[in-house]
Amino acid sequence: MGEQGQRGPKRLFIETYGCQMNVYDSERMRDLLAPLGYALTDRPDDADLVVLNTCHIREKATEKVYSELGRLRAHKQARKAAGKDMTIAVAGCVAQAEGEEIIRRAPCVDFVVGPQAYHKLPELIARAARKLGERVAFDFTPEEKFDALPERFLGRAPDGVSAFVAIQEGCDKFCTFCVVPYTRGAEYSRPLAAIVAEASALADRGVRELTLLGQNVNAYHGEGEGGAASLADLLRALARIETIERLRYTTSHPMEMSDDLIALHGEAPKLMPFLHLPAQSGSDRILKAMNRKHDSALYRDIVARLRQARPDLGLSTDFIVGFPGETDKDFEATLALVRDVGFASAYSFKYSPRPGTPAAAMAGQIDEKVKSARLARLQAAMAEQQRDFNAARIGRVLPVLVTGPGRNPGQKHGRSPYMQAVHFIDAQARAGDIVAVRILAASQNSLTGARAASEAA
Ligand code: 5AD
Ligand code: SF4
Repeated sequence: MGEQGQRGPKRLFIETYGCQMNVYDSERMRDLLAPLGYALTDRPDDADLVVLNTCHIREKATEKVYSELGRLRAHKQARKAAGKDMTIAVAGCVAQAEGEEIIRRAPCVDFVVGPQAYHKLPELIARAARKLGERVAFDFTPEEKFDALPERFLGRAPDGVSAFVAIQEGCDKFCTFCVVPYTRGAEYSRPLAAIVAEASALADRGVRELTLLGQNVNAYHGEGEGGAASLADLLRALARIETIERLRYTTSHPMEMSDDLIALHGEAPKLMPFLHLPAQSGSDRILKAMNRKHDSALYRDIVARLRQARPDLGLSTDFIVGFPGETDKDFEATLALVRDVGFASAYSFKYSPRPGTPAAAMAGQIDEKVKSARLARLQAAMAEQQRDFNAARIGRVLPVLVTGPGRNPGQKHGRSPYMQAVHFIDAQARAGDIVAVRILAASQNSLTGARAASEAA
């Protein structure tokens, strides 16, 4: 065996933090690097190349990156002592927001690459190997990025049944707490035809479920046939692909829920009855300070209209507690919204000041202890709603998209229309099938059932 053979493939370790857009980007980086001989490993100490795909949305996410870099530095030193190299790259939103700071704080990092420049990875790796420096790079438009990544691999998901497709990137909303408009830049939408072509290619490879991704996905306004196409136009076009059975989109802004899109929830059976619609707060005063452009009455009204169109709709949401100036009364208004709407699930966060955003400079920053106490109360309320929502499925028959075998023989794993994990007994079902499952038990995080004889209802 030659030298090349003994060394085997190069090993790539990717650690992904944050949102689904990052999960998606990591998969695309993996696919981009595969032709260069990189195979994934789950052991960072064994890697020739480590990519940390970072998230900047909250403080904890950023701090985790620095502590991971500390661990990686030790691995890099150990490998060096054994005569082996390790290249460390930092990608994602921390890279974009504080590239220079990373270079200063973590000398073990070979280069930093922002979300707009991933197609430059092969070149950056080659330069790092030749010790040519250039440790920061992110000067490309999103359009170039989407075009430059390997088209034939776009959006493929590990389970082969569901795939993410990025349709929109960036945000022009400027909520006062949020770094996204700064790290991901202005809104950009891909042309409709490019997305439909990608979705068809995914369908040909057996994908049954598509989740359309964007930081502000329902603001989508890509180039269509006769002018700009909306998200509703795009969903209608995708629903025409026969073997795509399920469509989802995330993350939405309430102010972009157009009448057309709301109506589509009642008209397009392929559009799943589950929507992530961040509310952030139930207090009108706080919503105004957040620059959300809607009050809590408008949020409730949008939910009511959605449920009118699609009565079985499940909702998930995001909340921030402890935004500057938030009083007990404001927080009670958030709890009231939770009670009134009834969510299937929610993510709630303590407000974390992000440098450079307006809210970070606002008076009335809230004490950590108060934030923690409010978070605990909100999460307890949400956990109860999530359990109730899951328990309400018991006795029903749900259509389940099979994703693969379960833990025990004869058991299968799949997903309900509401993104609930479903474990059920069925020897025949194969990945990609949609089968009717009678739900027999529920916990906070998953459902258990058995194949039903009848069609799903
Ligand atoms: N502090 C806390 N949570 C935040 N989010 C965004 N920015 C911040 C911040 N500075 C939350 C919002 C958003 C979700 C993705 O992260 O709830 O919807
Ligand atoms: Fe951030 Fe607001 Fe844009 Fe969402 S809509 S990405 S929270 S600025």
